[in-house]
Amino acid sequence: MPPERTTDERRLHVLAWSAALLTWLVWDTFGQVLARDVEALIENLVRDWTTDYTQAPYARTDFIEPFRLAARFGPVPLLLTAAAGTMYRLTAGENGDHPLSRLSGKQKLLVTAATLGPFAAAAFPLGLGLSMWVAVELYWWLEWYGDMDPTMLWIHENAVWLLLPGVATSGIAALVFALSESPDPVLKKKRRRSRTRKLLRWVAAVPLSVLAVGGLFGAAHASRVSNVGAEVHADWCGRCHERALPLYYVKSPDAWARTVETHVDIERVELTPEKRARLTEFLTSNRSFSDHWTFRSRCQGCHGSTWRAWEPRSVADWQGIVTRMGWWSPYFYRADVGAQITRFVAAEGLIDNSGGLLDLDAEAATKVRDVVKYCGFCHSVTYEAERYAKEDADELRRMVVRMNDKIHLGLRMDEATLDRITKDYSELIQDIDRFDELVPHDRPELGTGRIPGQKIGTPPISGRY
Ligand code: HEC
Ligand code: HEC
Ligand code: HEC
Repeated sequence: MPPERTTDERRLHVLAWSAALLTWLVWDTFGQVLARDVEALIENLVRDWTTDYTQAPYARTDFIEPFRLAARFGPVPLLLTAAAGTMYRLTAGENGDHPLSRLSGKQKLLVTAATLGPFAAAAFPLGLGLSMWVAVELYWWLEWYGDMDPTMLWIHENAVWLLLPGVATSGIAALVFALSESPDPVLKKKRRRSRTRKLLRWVAAVPLSVLAVGGLFGAAHASRVSNVGAEVHADWCGRCHERALPLYYVKSPDAWARTVETHVDIERVELTPEKRARLTEFLTSNRSFSDHWTFRSRCQGCHGSTWRAWEPRSVADWQGIVTRMGWWSPYFYRADVGAQITRFVAAEGLIDNSGGLLDLDAEAATKVRDVVKYCGFCHSVTYEAERYAKEDADELRRMVVRMNDKIHLGLRMDEATLDRITKDYSELIQDIDRFDELVPHDRPELGTGRIPGQKIGTPPISGRY
């Protein structure tokens, strides 16, 4: 029945190339992000290279536009062919051949040139863009180790070379896949036994796994980067300095809002409130970290998913936790990070506005907070507290007076407050585990976060800090 076969085939063609078109539309969003990343990277590098006047002529930016185009459009022919080829293979008949595999040798050569050519031209910019993804994503984690700049430099210099073979191998593999027949299972087994194929697979495995790791970072990046507001950026941000300048920076969302605000106030950039919001969203999604991401890097490293069992606390109590963490790493837990963490726990419904603290009412909670206020800003409240838990009242009071003498004159406790704090402190330190619940992170924690109902990882600390 030849006529029916042709309608079937026509339907198949439509299906395959619609899938290809869809793949392209999805790709283009990321292609634009990649193109911007490449532009920002090159501009940034060029500026760095030209701190010396005499080098200025060598600083070339004229290859930015071709690189942008290559990153965005270079992979498209291959992508289209691979997507259509996959559809053809999936719907291939008994003998496994399909329209692409039936092409003659010459035609296959043409397809190869038309797809791998642009792809090869795109491979380097693509690798650059991917390395930017890796760098931006890793930034928040690398801060943890403190030694950030050298690590970032290493990534900028080497990531592209690590990713390049992966990009190339996967491109070639995708094309071979699209152009070859879909083998039946018996044939497949026989082929697998061939030694050269095995060897080739092993050779391809290394760059492909590097790409897979890079791709994972890329996926994490792509999941939050958007093109919303890209038009405001393209329209406005290149008028006084290079368009890519804002993309040299990784800032907290608050800091980006400030940048936009100062530009409106001082540089007289005329943006409607709606455009301002879109631009801030653009900058935040491309070069910042969401509140959740910040929480993840600051707290979830220890708390995993156990934080979901946390009880609500007041905003000030949450900020107190981050401030105390900041004693051990002031930069890592700095003020804007604290603001993001507080916003995150607020969004998770963990704010208690009643004035109480866990199961304490407002009055009892105030006692705890006042003790923290007067005894918690030079050292842990429970520092050497076990000793004083058993000490007699006179000795205890003498100690608190001694502490009060250390406090800056204007902030010292008066007689009545001193008596009150002494009494409340003395009560609170009777059960230090309970105090830890009320005031987490009074001392540096050496273990992992709590698994609900179970204390793990925290060896009994003998000397309290
Ligand atoms: C009317 C001129 C003008 C326009 C338009 C402009 N800028 Fe700027 N921008 C400046 C000036 C001036 C500086 C300071 C330059 C320097 O320090 O070298 C600057 C510096 C910056 C910086 C680095 C300093 C900082 O605050 O971190 C960023 C980021 C920035 N601009 C972002 C943007 C963005 C985003 C836009 C798009 C709306 C934009 N700029 C548009 C004038 C402008
Ligand atoms: C170095 C590991 C570590 C980090 C980082 C860490 N915590 Fe903790 N946290 C602990 C440990 C250990 C405990 C004590 C667990 C227990 O009570 O059994 C704890 C207890 C807590 C508690 C009380 C537990 C409860 O069930 O109410 C809260 C709340 C808390 N942490 C908040 C935070 C916040 C917010 C951050 C991020 C700013 C953070 N922690 C970062 C290890 C950590
Ligand atoms: C202005 C900073 C400061 C404040 C505020 C402060 N301390 Fe101290 N604390 C110190 C210093 C410094 C030491 C170590 C030197 C010493 O023992 O006098 C110390 C030591 C201690 C010790 C152990 C040493 C000892 O004397 O046995 C305890 C217990 C103590 N403080 C409790 C408290 C209490 C309770 C409060 C709140 C009323 C408090 N601290 C407020 C600075 C302070």
